[in-house]
Amino acid sequence: MTIRRTPSTRLSLVAVALVASAVLTGCERPPPESVQHGFRGTGMVQVYNARTLEAQAPNNVVPDPVPAVPGDGPKAKDVYKNVQVLGDLSVAEFNRTMVAISAWVSPKEQCTYCHMAGEGFESDSMYTKVVARRMLQMTQAINSKWSAHVGGTNGNGAGVTCFTCHRGQHNPSELWFRAPPQVQASRALGNDAGQNRPSPGVTLASLPYDALTDYLLDAKEIRVGGTTALPTGNRQNIKQTEFTFALMIHMSNSLGVNCTYCHNSQNFAGWEGAPPQRVTAWHGIRMAREINNVYMEPLQAVFPAARLGPTGDVAKVGCATCHQGAYKPLYGANMLKDYPVLGRITGSTAGPVVAGPIAGLLGRVLFDTGKFDLTPDAKKQIAAASQALARDASLKVDLSGFTDRTGNANANAELAKNRAFAVRDALTAAGVPQARINLRKPELVIAGADGSSRRVDLVAVK
Ligand code: HEC
Ligand code: HEC
Ligand code: HEC
Ligand code: HEC
Repeated sequence: MTIRRTPSTRLSLVAVALVASAVLTGCERPPPESVQHGFRGTGMVQVYNARTLEAQAPNNVVPDPVPAVPGDGPKAKDVYKNVQVLGDLSVAEFNRTMVAISAWVSPKEQCTYCHMAGEGFESDSMYTKVVARRMLQMTQAINSKWSAHVGGTNGNGAGVTCFTCHRGQHNPSELWFRAPPQVQASRALGNDAGQNRPSPGVTLASLPYDALTDYLLDAKEIRVGGTTALPTGNRQNIKQTEFTFALMIHMSNSLGVNCTYCHNSQNFAGWEGAPPQRVTAWHGIRMAREINNVYMEPLQAVFPAARLGPTGDVAKVGCATCHQGAYKPLYGANMLKDYPVLGRITGSTAGPVVAGPIAGLLGRVLFDTGKFDLTPDAKKQIAAASQALARDASLKVDLSGFTDRTGNANANAELAKNRAFAVRDALTAAGVPQARINLRKPELVIAGADGSSRRVDLVAVK
């Protein structure tokens, strides 16, 4: 069949072409600028769009430093009760640092984001404070151990403060989690290795959607070229190449650059002729692994469930967490010089002590806000516990009541006691003798902010 072109269809084709060219040129107006990056003739040019750069600028404004204070006078560790990292600072400098981290992480709540009103500043009852202490240690480690990447304290580069990642927010805006396991539609389709599930992490390309677990948490090799002629026993297959490219897309995107910022496109694998930024990036990959394995992963038990990812893992750091689209975070501004304590390791480097699952927990009875009535679910829990006690006559049970952190402290202590009494009465009604029940007041009655704080724990003891 042939299409007969009438004058009117010809006209509309011209119109379509005109509209299309207007739309296409409109995409990149004002014209992108290209900046030569490598040697002449290597085609290593960076392309920047002025509008993108302009849109990014507000996110890269650095806050004014908190005014300087005297560095002498008594030390924080001699005046305060529970200072483990910043103890060598003068009291004035310590408080200046507290003011700075409030502005960087919790400008709205200020001190109360990490310190509970009505409790001493030394208390570690809020998880945010426990995390913040680990973050102080982490920031010190990044600057002093990874100066090959961040410049840190060697005076040649920007270094990192809490603001580099947080930018005035509780959670940095660029984080990643382990991807949930794939659901295979059919085994006949084989394993697609997470491809064709467009994810923003790889700019919606059909590359594997979770490249970061392999490279920024695990230390899989980042290679595409095999070392043997036949693909026997090596991972350098097409899938492996695609994973490598997914990581490269993440890196390029995080820095707002293209591949030739780090590679001479003649030879992607070769280090000769590659710009020095590739070496900086190589250290960055190792640094991100250390941040995630040594600092983030062990904090999993400290974070509340609402902060965890789809598979229950803790948030992790990628290149974008610090860079946020800029070739250097905050365009290379050095905030560290005003807070030298974040550039060297001071005080303890040990992680927080996290209580594991409670040994012998027989049951956990939950309550509604402000109430100590037993819900139907609570009654089921108590019935199960009383059966366990009936099976083993050598067991006794400890009951501890808790509340959430809202409300008045005295009223909460009373409420926690009444909850424990309610469970005790239900157990005796179910036939457990009084002598086998101990009421045990926990050290901290106020347990947290979520529903699991309003509870009574039933713990078996011999
Ligand atoms: C982002 C969390 C965070 C914020 C916000 C914060 N702090 Fe702290 N604060 C900490 C951490 C962590 C420590 C423990 C430091 C250490 O172990 O070296 C601490 C310790 C303290 C101590 C020492 C208490 C003692 O006896 O051990 C004081 C005092 C203090 N902070 C005051 C403040 C004040 C005042 C503010 C508001 C201007 C504030 N903090 C904001 C995390 C925070
Ligand atoms: C903890 C924060 C942090 C993380 C995470 C991070 N970077 Fe950086 N990066 C920096 C800082 C700060 C600088 C600037 C250092 C300086 O001023 O010389 C920098 C500089 C660089 C540079 C040099 C830029 C130039 O023009 O000289 C490259 C390349 C780079 N980073 C790549 C990466 C890659 C790739 C990753 C992820 C694998 C990454 N970074 C992760 C903080 C970070
Ligand atoms: C390399 C990036 C990075 C740096 C630097 C950093 N943090 Fe964080 N911070 C994170 C990540 C990632 C999380 C986890 C966020 C989540 O779970 O959503 C986090 C979480 C926190 C939290 C818990 C917030 C919440 O609401 O759950 C606090 C508090 C905190 N950081 C304080 C600090 C302080 C204080 C500093 C500086 C001493 C600091 N951070 C430096 C990456 C960083
Ligand atoms: C910020 C710097 C940076 C950017 C941008 C970057 N790369 Fe890389 N690339 C590296 C580093 C560093 C390695 C080596 C990683 C290692 O060995 O740990 C690497 C490795 C590779 C490899 C593996 C080479 C081999 O030995 O088999 C290929 C291929 C590659 N990159 C391609 C790309 C492509 C394509 C892009 C653009 C989409 C890109 N890279 C963007 C830094 C970068």
